[in-house]
Amino acid sequence: MTTRFKKEVLDTPAWWQDLDRYIDEQKNNNPGHVQSALIPVLHYVQDRYGYVPEKAVNHVAQSLGVPTVYIWGVASFYSYFSLTPKGLYTIRVCAGTACYVQGSQAVMNEFIRRLEIQPGQTTEDGLFTLEEARCLGACGQAPVVMVNDRVHAKVRPEQVPDIVAEYTALAHASAEAQA
Ligand code: FES
Repeated sequence: MTTRFKKEVLDTPAWWQDLDRYIDEQKNNNPGHVQSALIPVLHYVQDRYGYVPEKAVNHVAQSLGVPTVYIWGVASFYSYFSLTPKGLYTIRVCAGTACYVQGSQAVMNEFIRRLEIQPGQTTEDGLFTLEEARCLGACGQAPVVMVNDRVHAKVRPEQVPDIVAEYTALAHASAEAQA
């Protein structure tokens, strides 16, 4: 049986209270400017879930007194916000100039080939999301790949299988430890 990986996010009453507190704070900081209040709230939601889920949109809509369709509109306008769940590991391949010159496209192609997904997609088992990034701020180490918060420097296409294998093993080990 294929293991499916999912980020554990607890929807505790304390979280919703915390979110309400944050929404009030943003409303007070931006009186009469719903969109100015909404953007930080959406960031807050995404920081918790890794994306903007429907249940949070419904909650925020009620608290801010705006239609959900307005929130979906704002969330889908900004590319920073993701409307679909991400994998356990987000692989970001830098496509900034320094990395591009050092061959980041070949690295990206290898991830695409190995994972059988395109940038912006998530593997069927929920393990990896692949993304293209602009400068990740480590140009001296180009080409750079980030997996969640960890930087992989001077990555060559032939290292891609090892990177994928390392995180696959980590995920399986932690799934087994929790079983
Ligand atoms: S261009 Fe890739 S880290 Fe700056």
